[in-house]
Amino acid sequence: MIRVPVAVPGREYEVVVGAGILDEAERFLPHMEGRDKAFIVADTTVAGLYQEPLADAMSRLGLTTVSLHVPQGEDAKTLQVAGVLYQQLALQEAHRGDVLLALGGGVTGDLTGFVAATYMRGLPVIQVPTTLLAQVDAAIGGKTAVNLPEGKNLVGAFHQPIAVLADVATLATLPDREFRSGLAEVAKYGLTIDPAILETLEAEADRVRDRDSGVLEDLVARCARAKAATVAADERDEGGRLLLNYGHTLGHALERIESYRGRSHGEAVAVGMVFAARLAESMGIGEPGLVAFHHRLLKGLGLDDTGPALDPDQVLEAMRLDKKYSTRPRFVLLEAVGRPRIVAVDESVVREVLETE
Ligand code: NAD
Ligand code: GLY
Repeated sequence: MIRVPVAVPGREYEVVVGAGILDEAERFLPHMEGRDKAFIVADTTVAGLYQEPLADAMSRLGLTTVSLHVPQGEDAKTLQVAGVLYQQLALQEAHRGDVLLALGGGVTGDLTGFVAATYMRGLPVIQVPTTLLAQVDAAIGGKTAVNLPEGKNLVGAFHQPIAVLADVATLATLPDREFRSGLAEVAKYGLTIDPAILETLEAEADRVRDRDSGVLEDLVARCARAKAATVAADERDEGGRLLLNYGHTLGHALERIESYRGRSHGEAVAVGMVFAARLAESMGIGEPGLVAFHHRLLKGLGLDDTGPALDPDQVLEAMRLDKKYSTRPRFVLLEAVGRPRIVAVDESVVREVLETE
């Protein structure tokens, strides 16, 4: 078991990473004295698999557990579903002394975090991520949001959790596609912040594929450390935190073009990282060989980084709606592995590279 502190000034908490920690979750949570109810929010798949041990642990802490179910998948991240949760909290007489637990992937985490940030102007939330993507990224750092038909994550708040419990044993039941999607975000940390992660991915490829809990504990903890350091230095996304968006400028545009029903987030980020490498090489920012390195890495992780040709007009239009767009699309580009920088790129250059696909 590994504890990773997240030192956001005034709102410090820990990410606890380990195999089987849900069974004794009470040991890893901050003090719960004075708290009354624990609202566990999960979709029915995740609830069926992991709600019971968590509810038992909350009971051992003396809290009354209330289960709240949400729909599965990106469609759950809406104001409508948030509204249903607000009503259920009101009916159950939730108050600020209670706590919400987000049990599931990034969708449940973002939605529950948003409801926690806004109900009664803020209830504490514990993130209990059960996808690889949520364990290494979404559950840490306090970004919460719901989508609008006009775009993803357009309504949200920064609301740090009081704890994150990442039980890597839960990854055993994750569908292959979701696991690979999480590996794209793991690769992102390796490419931008901690290249040693890439060495582990290569040296331990078989154990990673077999979802060996030892190697997953190590990888999740290393990604959590990278994210924790980045968030502690820039909680509000004004500087260094932007680097966590490697591959996301094109990735988010793809997700939007496909109405969030095509590639998963991680799959879109994989395509986006290759595109960023192509941009970096063609602009003379990235060292030669960067694109080939990306292809090798992502192929080794079972990720398809190619996909059908993209319509440059559609892509550029989608990029203009990105939260980080400011007169030109902004990309995280690598000079080399582990040397990222943020670059505003002329649309004509983006178009040119898209057209040479
Ligand atoms: P997800 O939340 O949709 O979960 C994927 C699927 O896996 C769901 O159907 C779920 O029921 C199932 N599932 C979850 N855990 C399981 C388990 N252990 N066993 C079996 N099935 C399981 O997808 P995701 O990739 O975790 O999250 C994507 C979301 O995260 C997107 O909405 C994205 O915007 C968001 N995100 C947020 C941040 C952030 O900083 N807040 C960062 C990255 C991504
Ligand atoms: N996933 C990007 C961030 O948390 O900033």
